[in-house]
Amino acid sequence: MITGKPLLTTEQINQKVIELAHRISEDYKGKEIVLVGLLRGAFMFFADLARNIKVPLVIDFLTASSYMQTTTSGEVKIHCDIHEDIENRHVIVVDDIIDTGISLNFIRERLLQKNPASLKICVLLDKQDRRIVDVPVDYRGFNIPDEFVVGYGLDYENNYRNLPHIAIFKKAH
Ligand code: IMP
Ligand code: MG
Repeated sequence: MITGKPLLTTEQINQKVIELAHRISEDYKGKEIVLVGLLRGAFMFFADLARNIKVPLVIDFLTASSYMQTTTSGEVKIHCDIHEDIENRHVIVVDDIIDTGISLNFIRERLLQKNPASLKICVLLDKQDRRIVDVPVDYRGFNIPDEFVVGYGLDYENNYRNLPHIAIFKKAH
């Protein structure tokens, strides 16, 4: 169940997304970006971020899942890969949240093998206390405490993704 008031309100999120998009637009002046969204969690953040970036960009998506819960080895599986050829292009990977860092680390290493001109990572949320693998995060929206959160794309068993804000989720006993 959803507990208490929003951890992050729609207004806080919107303001942060615009701020991140402005920073990206400044940093990539004169360049074209390949914006790679990680599905499904990043879909809402990705759309809002993309529409506020002022430099030319093309979009692509990648679907992966981490099997942390079952294997603890942090095995990551790619279900649907990117379609663009990213060699010599400027890639920004966009995800909803970085937790252990296992997924983003795996995806980053994999995309780097395709020789992009540059590769940066943008996440809306960062649960820094939970990090197992050190991944360079270039654009970060909010640091959040070690709580399970839902809304604005983030889910619990594929529910709550449509909430316009971010809330803490606790399992009902
Ligand atoms: P990592 O490999 O542990 O960094 O996993 C990151 C992925 O786990 C994110 O892309 C989310 O899909 C999922 N995740 C981690 N924490 C949460 C949370 O609090 N709510 C919803 N999904 C989460
Ligand atoms: Mg995810």
